[in-house]
Amino acid sequence: MSEALPPYFNIDPDRALKDLGPSFSTARFSEIAEACARGRGDLASRGLDEAGRKSLRLFSTWEITRYLIPVATPHFRRVLRANPDLPQGRSETEGGAKWFTLDEVLRLRAHFAAEGAKNKEYLPYRPEGLPAKMVAVANFKGGVGKTSTAAHLAMSAALDGYKVLVVDLDSQGSMTSIFGGAVEDEFETVFPLLARHYARHLRQENQRRLDRGDPPIPLDDTLSEALEVKAADLIQKTHWPNIDLIGAQLNLYWSEFQIPVWRMQARSWKLWEALTESLEADGVLDQYDVIFLDTPPALGYLTINGLSAADILLVPMGASFLEFDSTGRFFDMLHSTFASIEEGENIAARALGREELAFEWDAVRAVITRYDGAQQGELAALMQAYLGQVLVPERQDFTALIGQAGEQVSGIYEADYRDFNRETYARGRATFDETYAAFKRLLIGTWRRDELAAREAAE
Ligand SMILES: Nc1ncnc2c1ncn2[C@@H]1O[C@H](COP(=O)(O)OP(=O)(O)O)[C@@H](O)[C@H]1O
Ligand SMILES: [Mg+2]
Repeated sequence: MSEALPPYFNIDPDRALKDLGPSFSTARFSEIAEACARGRGDLASRGLDEAGRKSLRLFSTWEITRYLIPVATPHFRRVLRANPDLPQGRSETEGGAKWFTLDEVLRLRAHFAAEGAKNKEYLPYRPEGLPAKMVAVANFKGGVGKTSTAAHLAMSAALDGYKVLVVDLDSQGSMTSIFGGAVEDEFETVFPLLARHYARHLRQENQRRLDRGDPPIPLDDTLSEALEVKAADLIQKTHWPNIDLIGAQLNLYWSEFQIPVWRMQARSWKLWEALTESLEADGVLDQYDVIFLDTPPALGYLTINGLSAADILLVPMGASFLEFDSTGRFFDMLHSTFASIEEGENIAARALGREELAFEWDAVRAVITRYDGAQQGELAALMQAYLGQVLVPERQDFTALIGQAGEQVSGIYEADYRDFNRETYARGRATFDETYAAFKRLLIGTWRRDELAAREAAE
């Protein structure tokens, strides 16, 4: 029997021409983009609530007592019966399992924290009076799991009871889609906060110019408009009661062109401080516990702003040779980028006897994502040996649950476990719970460090 030839032999040129279709003009790109937008709209509209918004699923008694509030199920039921004012949940069938909204879960947790056993951790550790921790998830390679990791961490932190803000710095807006954000243009992204920071700097600079007898640099419409914007104008509610969002959209990419132009105009503008100082100035750090920054797959100005704002930097990567290799180069780029900013600032600072700029992060960790233990164990062990403490030992397994969940459901925490085999669900969830546990150890450790430092300073 003769085997058929592989498919790339004997391609008939005339047939190939016939299948080819006409050549492409620029306008075709916009037609394709429109087709994608229509298809996306179709998918995104499935399963939305009446107001056209995403809605979060309900949580069952099993899930609450298993994952969210550490009490035995019978005790949980007893407490609910004894307190008719507490949310009682709803069931689909007479006497069936009771289901609760996340808002209700948060109220129940607050009740247990106030009334329950004092030796149990109902509320996660959060030192009073300290600002939110900012967490950037970055790697200049795309597809390594930045957005998935940031979104899952945001959701697990919210389930754990923290108040979370998610900031999308990627103009592709994947994080914004996950949280159902609506962003019309760049003025609904972080862009105006960056512009405002520059505009305020320019006004001070202009004062100095006037004092010197130089003509001021005029503020254009964008900058004047940005001066009116507050972070609160940009923050959107999401379908998660304790996750808010500053979204992104394609026009945010404009920042990558605009920021260097501003910097050329006023060399003394500290562009890397724009995001962190604007959020701080508007009191955002006092309104949340944790702020996650999802960054684009590039070390551009938006990423630099996100990284310099961050207290904790997480670098996701797959356990493959190529991702290990490019992550190494990413750290090399981080070094040269931030060292050159420090160097540029410190020549002047040294000359003037001023304090020198030195960037500092509370913690920097790489995380292995989309891990396949059967294939990648050896490579992961090698990476661990070379990276030591910088690579968290928990592996985030590849799980089909992420892709399978459907249009309206983003990841394991939004999925209804009844859609899966209970085992599969538990395993898929466990791997993201472990990533969260690894992160929460960093979070708590850095907060404790700050708390002790503040206590020492007060003595
Ligand atoms: N643990 C995982 N298991 C399976 N698929 C994953 C996992 N993490 C991410 N993915 C998938 O990998 C792709 C890239 O992930 P994403 O988070 O968008 O990467 P990035 O933000 O770095 O570009 C997405 O399709 C996502 O669903
Ligand atoms: Mg992404």
